[in-house]
Amino acid sequence: MDKTELLLKKLTEAFGPSGFEDEVRKIMSQELSQYTDNIYTDGLGSLIAEFGSKEQKPKIMITAHMDEVGLLVKYIDDAGYIKIQQLGGWLDSALLGQRWHILTKKGKVFGISGIKTPHVIKPEERKKHISSDEIFIDVGASNKDDAQNNLGIHPGDPIAPVSEFTLLGNKNLYTGKAWDDRIGLAVMTQIAKNINNKTCQNKLFLVSTVQEEVGLRGAQTSSSYIKPDIGINIESGVAGDYPGISLDEAQEKLGNGPTIFLHDSSMIPNIKLRNFVISLAEELKIDVQFNVLKGYGQDGSAIQQSNSGTPTINIAVPTRYLHSHNGIISRVDFDNTVKLINNLVKRLDLKTIHEIKSFE
Ligand code: CO
Repeated sequence: MDKTELLLKKLTEAFGPSGFEDEVRKIMSQELSQYTDNIYTDGLGSLIAEFGSKEQKPKIMITAHMDEVGLLVKYIDDAGYIKIQQLGGWLDSALLGQRWHILTKKGKVFGISGIKTPHVIKPEERKKHISSDEIFIDVGASNKDDAQNNLGIHPGDPIAPVSEFTLLGNKNLYTGKAWDDRIGLAVMTQIAKNINNKTCQNKLFLVSTVQEEVGLRGAQTSSSYIKPDIGINIESGVAGDYPGISLDEAQEKLGNGPTIFLHDSSMIPNIKLRNFVISLAEELKIDVQFNVLKGYGQDGSAIQQSNSGTPTINIAVPTRYLHSHNGIISRVDFDNTVKLINNLVKRLDLKTIHEIKSFE
């Protein structure tokens, strides 16, 4: 594995459901502290890394979220099975038959979500949808007392998917959990690497946010603190290039470059900023693609609504099978997203930002 693959492995395998991002924050803090001393957290736990001096303007806020979709222990039944609350949006079917870690006071406990054996299922039961209330995690406990007192599991403990970072048959494609949004954090580390603190003309805030998957909460608190002039959110996109998904649902394809979001249910990007990014990509000869989604939500929307309105854009690395144990991204898309945002940060000078912010 090369350096980038090792970083992606570290980020994607880290434990970090919404509200429990400590492990990811530690990695980001280590990565970003190589490039700036000015790193701190806000009151909700988002990690803010500042570049450039205090007086510098404009203020550019770049975000990617640390949390992944996960679960929470709701209660333990008498037999010792763990009942769950979802943290973030899961398809119930993606929860079945999977591997999980529960983080307890005593450390991580491994468990699996059990699925009923087909040998006993009646024909009518086969068609039935299994809801998340019926799903449980089996940690091998002999009863409730064993789960609580010996394994240390308690209601409120967070649960995250277990999935190893792996190269697919096509070695340019990587699978793993939590690409949403560890891939955004990986892009962020590469941007930090490229900023020269002395010659940097903007005041840059690289923000690793918390609690995106439960309502963009970290982006709200950090943007109300920073009061940015421009917002760039880095996300995992929604690829629509596998069987059973249509162009009407999602238009991105793996390998076709960074995606500029034109619409999702949380945000319409600033049009001048959007056009600026498109013409910059043309100039750099980077292929970009677009996505118009009916659903979805992302941190850019919280930035956009802060500081009495902030021009914001969402740029994404196309991803297949989000919010599951095994998503897929392409290395080529990752490298091109880094290149595009690096150049964007360099080009956003005071004059350009004035133009973007003006409605004249
Ligand atoms: Co996301």
